[in-house]
Amino acid sequence: MKGIILAGGAGSRLYPLTLVASKQLQPVYDKPMVYYPLTVLIASGIREICLISTPQDLPRFRQLLGNGSAWGVSLEYREQPRPEGIAQAFLIAESFIAGQRVALILGDNIFSGGDAFPRAVAEFEGGATVFAYHVHDPQRYGVVEFDAAGRAISLEEKPAQPKSNYAVPGVYLYDEQVVPITKATRPSARGELEITSVNQEYLRRGQLHVRRLPRGFAWLDAGTSTSLHEASAYVQTIERRQGVKIGCPEEAAMRRGFITVDQLEALTRTLPNCEYRDYLANLVTDSRRLGAMA
Ligand code: DAU
Repeated sequence: MKGIILAGGAGSRLYPLTLVASKQLQPVYDKPMVYYPLTVLIASGIREICLISTPQDLPRFRQLLGNGSAWGVSLEYREQPRPEGIAQAFLIAESFIAGQRVALILGDNIFSGGDAFPRAVAEFEGGATVFAYHVHDPQRYGVVEFDAAGRAISLEEKPAQPKSNYAVPGVYLYDEQVVPITKATRPSARGELEITSVNQEYLRRGQLHVRRLPRGFAWLDAGTSTSLHEASAYVQTIERRQGVKIGCPEEAAMRRGFITVDQLEALTRTLPNCEYRDYLANLVTDSRRLGAMA
């Protein structure tokens, strides 16, 4: 399966921070926001990744992430000239998708805990897979309604009267129908190609799978100054308590076998003296010790 990170948009809700850098380049505690979705894709075993952003911001992403070889992945870049909807990603990246299966992740969605995404990717058998997460303010999101048997029966984008508390987070898995379905989708009243319209079509075809994310799982929003600050505080709390990082692509790449421990060590040596480097150096030492014990 291939992967797309959608990291464009106006970022107007973070103004004036977004005068300095785009939303997905802002720090979430100790690393840029885009590291978190990138890590989700790598941890899910996805090696071919396309990042979509605005023409102004794309050079900064290229500078930060390069061609992905440091993490054993390939990274391509595509421009979205105007924010005309999340589903437009499939049209922009059509030649990258090349008729294959694809995972889309939004560049401002932060997840922590569990193996729900790697499992869903490994068990993906076609159609579309989306996730459902219990929230207190579902009217801000795509909302999924379930029947008594737990089957998804409706999807709505930001309904004024939500039919459930289950929001659809910004991670979506699709089969090769996604490009033709998007091409047949009409823009919504707000002039956007809605991801919810694509998902509604899969639902209509009886091919939408909805996986509920467990209670212990964290899905954080980083789209406003307040939620960005809260996301940073959450990541800091977990990282300091556990001594493990959330959203560390180097670690995910090593655990997934995309790079060897030797490659991780070489990469670590190129970093300046900082806490992030110390963390990676400890990972190298621990992996060698565990390897020696095996
Ligand atoms: O976060 C999950 C939610 O994301 C879903 O529950 C909703 O169904 C989905 O529509 C979306 O809602 P948002 O209101 O959060 O979408 P927003 O327009 O804020 O875009 C989400 C991210 O995608 C944001 O970081 C900017 C980026 N984006 C968005 C659009 C519309 C682009 O890069 N290009 C775009 O054209």
